[in-house]
Amino acid sequence: MRVLSATSAHNLSSFITAVHRHHLHSHKTVFRPPQTDKCQYSLQEYYQKKAKKYWDSFYKRHQNKFFKDRHYLEKDWGSYFSDDSCFQNGKVVLEVGCGAGNTIFPLVAAYPKLYVHACDISPCAIQLVKSHLEFREDRVNAFVCDAVRDDLSAKINPSSVDVVTLIFMLSAVSPKKMPLILQNIKAVLKPDGYVLVRDYAIGDFAQVKLRDKNQMIGDDFFVRGDGTCSFYFSEDFLSSLFLESGFNTIDINIYFKQIQNHSRDIVMDRRWIRAIFKNCDSSIRNSTLNSRH
Ligand SMILES: C[S@@+](CC[C@H](N)C(=O)[O-])C[C@H]1O[C@@H](n2cnc3c(N)ncnc32)[C@H](O)[C@@H]1O
Repeated sequence: MRVLSATSAHNLSSFITAVHRHHLHSHKTVFRPPQTDKCQYSLQEYYQKKAKKYWDSFYKRHQNKFFKDRHYLEKDWGSYFSDDSCFQNGKVVLEVGCGAGNTIFPLVAAYPKLYVHACDISPCAIQLVKSHLEFREDRVNAFVCDAVRDDLSAKINPSSVDVVTLIFMLSAVSPKKMPLILQNIKAVLKPDGYVLVRDYAIGDFAQVKLRDKNQMIGDDFFVRGDGTCSFYFSEDFLSSLFLESGFNTIDINIYFKQIQNHSRDIVMDRRWIRAIFKNCDSSIRNSTLNSRH
């Protein structure tokens, strides 16, 4: 196994060039980030800037074979998507970081009136969505978008979305940039709209492995061997993040599962977080209306 050695802070730019070359030639070897704060901050910036490239390589390599369809969303959050009789048209959903469509296609199949906007930073992922057998232009608006930098309201009408889903997406983004994503989705979410989040939680087996391999580039933030990043959430971190961006927490919890991998003879303690947030704009608007009467 080849190991890239860490350099000191004053040699950072040549180090970043080395990191770049490393990921260019291999995604299997281990890369060890340096541990000073300055280096870690620069690496977070570096990987944020290169997110499109690394995620695009991920989908070129794995195509639509990596993630399984997420049918559990209907079971856990069905009421948020359902087309109840008072809605002549179905609800409008925005899935940010849709990947190859493992969240959106089960939803489109289960809720016949649902309309889905689906965006991803990777052009290859969006191509996979558009070439999916169940893709229909009248049900799915799929487009390339870096949710940290590109204005979602250029593609979606302001205040028009009922539910935003962030399924293993926020964790791919540097924690310093997460508030930018929340501001971006707030502009297209209805004043009483919801955000549904499912993601990796602190203490997950994968985090422990990345920590053991010294892949940390910030607090609870890691880079994988292929250059994609992964943050591990606590309940406090996630609810404060949303509160500071003007969302109320409706529900939040961490859940656990032990998964046995027979071929590798290991037991993995997996931990995920799931949460529901509500846009606070409706309560501000309601209290303003009430105070007028
Ligand atoms: C772990 S995958 C999850 C895919 C999908 N949500 C699902 O349920 O399978 C994370 C996705 O986030 C996308 N992503 C990462 N950073 C992004 C950004 N800044 N803007 C939009 N998408 C991003 C990646 O390309 C990737 O498809």
